[in-house]
Amino acid sequence: MARVYNFSAGPAVLPEAVLKEAADEMLDYQGTGMSVMEMSHRSKAFENIITSAEADLRDLLSIPDDYAVLFLQGGASQQFAAIPMNLMVNGKADYIVSGSWSKKAFKEAELFGDARCIASSEDGNFSYIPDCKDLDIDADADYVYICENETIYGTKYHELPNTKGKTLVADVSSCFLSEPVDITKYGVMYGGVQKNIGPAGVAIDIIRKDLIRDDVLEGTPTMLKWKTQADNDSLYNTPPAYGIYICGKVFKWLKSLGGLEVMGQMNREKAAILYDFLDSSDLFMGTARREDRSIMNVPFITGDPKLDELFVAEAKKNGIESIKGHRTVGGMRASIYNAMPKAGVEALVEFMKKFELEHK
Ligand SMILES: Cc1ncc(COP(=O)(O)O)c(C=O)c1O
Repeated sequence: MARVYNFSAGPAVLPEAVLKEAADEMLDYQGTGMSVMEMSHRSKAFENIITSAEADLRDLLSIPDDYAVLFLQGGASQQFAAIPMNLMVNGKADYIVSGSWSKKAFKEAELFGDARCIASSEDGNFSYIPDCKDLDIDADADYVYICENETIYGTKYHELPNTKGKTLVADVSSCFLSEPVDITKYGVMYGGVQKNIGPAGVAIDIIRKDLIRDDVLEGTPTMLKWKTQADNDSLYNTPPAYGIYICGKVFKWLKSLGGLEVMGQMNREKAAILYDFLDSSDLFMGTARREDRSIMNVPFITGDPKLDELFVAEAKKNGIESIKGHRTVGGMRASIYNAMPKAGVEALVEFMKKFELEHK
């Protein structure tokens, strides 16, 4: 069995130890005589799985008691609608558009109320994070929205926007659990798990409890009402049980490594290997503004689309998978999430050096 170095932006590489453990438990989960896939979500065994997953996540992120943790379906995109439906009591929200994901969320919010784009980096093809120190935030805005790490363009807020006291809502799909964060700065932090945490099909919302209310927008479907999910401990209906089980294992894996402080350090080291090479290369260059660079998604180009194509094809032959940039931007992108080993990034850089010598 040969495993490749998988640089996919999501679904993405998962820790090998977690996959092996899941394989070992596939036919008989801890003496139950069945797979977690086959198990009632109302069973004692699954109750333990979901409660320990939540407890471990709370530990990892130091989530205070006044925040709820919800395991949901529909991916991050479903939350693009759920957010305005649950939060737009004044019918107003301010969005910062720093890439395709925040733009999609903004467009979705426009369906439900007066959503305003208060800053954008579209003029620079989303290669930077807009200046968010003194934004024109509406006094009645129900929340300010960001996508904290834009997966496609490889940018990250290294400082959160000044929301002038308004609730911050952040999509952290592609930087979830990649380093320590202060959860109390957020009203809602959420994301799809298929990049840093688990298999596609689960979204996790961490929501300050006072934001979970009954008076949501009229017509909000029962399933999209956060209160329904919170009142039922994410078990209103059948949850994505197997996905939650894998997420739980990844939380335990993170804890065994030493938690988010250690993970953040490892991630910064991995990213530095790649960025240092990009900054010294005569052939390759990174496309995101230096001070806004993500340590999770690293887009780069040669400047010649034909050569980019050749690089992607040659990389594949050398066990470097899914390095092609997003279809909307082209070039290359290396997603170096938590589970990507340092050896994978080193192998990529070695390959890039070799390619550079041959094609400069
Ligand atoms: C930052 C970000 N937000 C949202 C999404 C959409 O997630 P989903 O496919 O779970 O709806 C992605 C996607 O892949 C993403 O990278």
